[in-house]
Amino acid sequence: MNSTLVAPSLLAADFAHLADDIRRVECGGADFLHLDIMDGRLVPNISFGLPVVEAVRKTTRLELDTHLMLQDPMPFIAPFNKAGSNSVTIHVEIAVDPGPVLAAIRQQGLKCGLAVNPATPVEAIYPYLDELDLALVMSVEPGFGGQSFQDQALEKIRSLAVEIARRGLDLPIEVDGGVNANNAAACREAGARLLVAGSAVFRAEDPALAIAALRG
Ligand code: DX5
Ligand code: ZN
Repeated sequence: MNSTLVAPSLLAADFAHLADDIRRVECGGADFLHLDIMDGRLVPNISFGLPVVEAVRKTTRLELDTHLMLQDPMPFIAPFNKAGSNSVTIHVEIAVDPGPVLAAIRQQGLKCGLAVNPATPVEAIYPYLDELDLALVMSVEPGFGGQSFQDQALEKIRSLAVEIARRGLDLPIEVDGGVNANNAAACREAGARLLVAGSAVFRAEDPALAIAALRG
């Protein structure tokens, strides 16, 4: 199974009409729903938290791909599991050792992911690759939707794909930030299997067409 999976990012939805917007992307063929959780510390913005995840869980059957941009995620792993997350991705840039947090995510029975920011060398996540269910390469500085895709992410995805193949792992690479129909093919060719897209899907007139264009 080597098809591309698309995860629309809820950050670009209309928060006054979340259930309707989620239905549109679910009917449009989304594979996951990407939830961006920000603490105003690891990233210079705050977004939404557990009550929204719980409410979203009740409106969709999609797997909730939860991207925790939290400086100290450990106390929140069990609560996000309880709220209905299916996978939890933390950042390698956090103040504490990501290893025990990844172990805690797995212990909860969740898929675990590790993200790397544009300014961080991709090699920073190599010590953890064997323990991951997904590896997330950020193609914008995290904190805000609607930014432009940074092409340097492609080289990181390529290097990471080589390392994953060298180790014989079946580890999907996710790319997040500024992904749209113009750069999706380059992301796929570089080795990304999971495409996160906020604006390109939620702001599209026809989310189904937008998702199909990303999938290629
Ligand atoms: C940025 C978030 C992204 C973002 C994607 O901090 O991690 O998921 O919402 O949105 P677009 O696709 O609009 O860049
Ligand atoms: Zn994200």
